[in-house]
Amino acid sequence: MWYPCSVGPSPFPHQGPLEPAEVLGRDDLVEGLVRRVTNRRVTALLGPRRYGKTSVLQRVATELGGLHTVFVDFYEVTSMADAAVRFDQALAAATGPLARLARRFAVEVSLNLGALRIALAGPARNRPDPRLVLHGLLEVIVKTAMSAPTLLVIDEFSSVARVDGVADAMRTAFQHHYRDLGLIFAGSQPSMMRTLFTDRPQPFYGQADLVDIGPLSPAAIEGIVSDGFAATARRAGRLPALLFNFAAGHPQRTMQLADACWSHTPLGGVGDDAWADGLDAVRRASADAMERLFSSRNLSERRVLRSAAISGSVHGREAELLDLGKSPATSSRDALRDVGELAVVDGVLRVVDPVLADWIRQRFPL
Ligand SMILES: Nc1ncnc2c1ncn2[C@@H]1O[C@H](COP(=O)(O)OP(=O)(O)O)[C@@H](O)[C@H]1O
Ligand SMILES: [Mg+2]
Repeated sequence: MWYPCSVGPSPFPHQGPLEPAEVLGRDDLVEGLVRRVTNRRVTALLGPRRYGKTSVLQRVATELGGLHTVFVDFYEVTSMADAAVRFDQALAAATGPLARLARRFAVEVSLNLGALRIALAGPARNRPDPRLVLHGLLEVIVKTAMSAPTLLVIDEFSSVARVDGVADAMRTAFQHHYRDLGLIFAGSQPSMMRTLFTDRPQPFYGQADLVDIGPLSPAAIEGIVSDGFAATARRAGRLPALLFNFAAGHPQRTMQLADACWSHTPLGGVGDDAWADGLDAVRRASADAMERLFSSRNLSERRVLRSAAISGSVHGREAELLDLGKSPATSSRDALRDVGELAVVDGVLRVVDPVLADWIRQRFPL
């Protein structure tokens, strides 16, 4: 038999953000974000790591083709200088009319876009003051947005909680201009994001719309997985249901497992026949990382993770068996929720990463 796509890349990419055209099953979310930006609602997209936030934001930027995008990545930003560098790099990476405008306004405030990282590493007497530079860069963004329709995306904004003064500088710069630019924040630490957007003084952060990116629905997974198998001359069979059952819609883990099953499915074969091999491959590939992640937690957090993975709670019989007291249970649970390792879904406490949950259940048998 002849197959149209016998070799070629996997239909299930699972490292880094997707190309805008690859973002499937998120139509309502994308549409809602586009509507908010169009109406100039300041918006914050909340969800755990690897849930597809960056992918969705890039898709939103594509859909809003008439707006020029400045995409700032605050991943692990640790200082005001670091934050200024991220803005500088984002503006320097802009293309088209936005690039020309940004350069022009930068010259007006004596900034040379794209050169900040080097200037900050130079001799102390020539080193620019990060606070002033950040201020200047924010001014460049506002002026640019007032001259050309602009979308400003701040990804991994939760990192800003560690850095004094950056969120305040942004509020000062944007609070009277939020109608002049589309503004979306995204962050991977849902509780931290909620705190950032609800504890801050009005107006601005406190007025943002908070939008959750949830897991992929069973229907979305059915579509993505069936189409991926069909496009490469295979059939998914019951695989989408097996994936949802295991990964509960976690986008990156779903795709990683789909990919592992796909690569164990011969041409013309059926995906669910490869489930055991695919799962085994993912378990083996991730075991060391899971072990390191688990052992990097303190004792109380490890007990909480075990109790949550096994019983969905930190206050039941499992917690008792692990000698997990009420008060450490609550504080470690909250700490792990703050960093997005745990989440409450339909009243049940869950380990967000299904592969970590599985590793715990395998490692500590009932
Ligand atoms: N809509 C989607 N459909 C299928 N897989 C997705 C989707 N969104 C994200 N993913 C998977 O999750 C991975 C991480 O996406 P990314 O956008 O980087 O997440 P985040 O920014 O939330 O950390 C992607 O490589 C892909 O495997
Ligand atoms: Mg991301």
